[in-house]
Amino acid sequence: MQPLFSHSSGAGPLAVFVHGFPMDHRLWDQVVAHLGGLKRCLAVDLPGFGASSMDGADSIDETADRLAAVIASLDEPADIVGLSMGGYVQLALVERHPELIRSLVLMDTRSESDSDEGRAGRHALIDRVGESGVEPVADSMAEALPAADAAPWVRRKIRQMARDSSPAAVQAALRAMAERPDRTGILGSIAVPTLVVVGSEDALTPPDGARRMADAIPGSRFVQIDGAGHVPPLERPSEVVGALRDFWTVSA
Ligand code: MLT
Repeated sequence: MQPLFSHSSGAGPLAVFVHGFPMDHRLWDQVVAHLGGLKRCLAVDLPGFGASSMDGADSIDETADRLAAVIASLDEPADIVGLSMGGYVQLALVERHPELIRSLVLMDTRSESDSDEGRAGRHALIDRVGESGVEPVADSMAEALPAADAAPWVRRKIRQMARDSSPAAVQAALRAMAERPDRTGILGSIAVPTLVVVGSEDALTPPDGARRMADAIPGSRFVQIDGAGHVPPLERPSEVVGALRDFWTVSA
């Protein structure tokens, strides 16, 4: 199994950033740029995205195992921040490798598996990528993820990250997300400090679901980022940095 590619900056306790679909480590650029004095920030590329190879990308669980190998190689548990698909990977890590986690930030994500309709939509998209490549996914995600009034460069950046992904990676991630189990049942057993973050305008994983998830995690904190859609690290990076700093200060 090839190691996951990761981009390291800063010094201090280890913080690992896990991107959403169909993006890569660049999702976190503006966030990690302001945290280098506080943490050693490692922004990973999930299998097939950015600079990571496709090897071992068949499921969210396998992806979590590959992330675990990165963290284990650094010999310290990590503060882990994940967005959406990155959150699915975090919850798999909670189940499979809890000893590697110092704290969790679950951002614009959910614990539930896909509905039948959602699963069918993913399979239709897999076929579409097979026929037309990643372009339709890049366009629809750039449209759907941010809030309606997001700056044009936010949509451009999402489109760029999606276009830089291989069709095989996009299809494998869609398949892995469609097949992921419901992990709502483990929320009550999360024993590390946890922050749930959501954009007030997130249409994919809306605030009421994020609030429910926070309520199910013992002692967790909840922060809503006003004006952001599904990608607060791009849409409201300084608010995300503030939320992380506050959380890490009280949870350390
Ligand atoms: C993401 O941002 O990672 C995706 O929206 C997750 C999903 O499609 O479930």
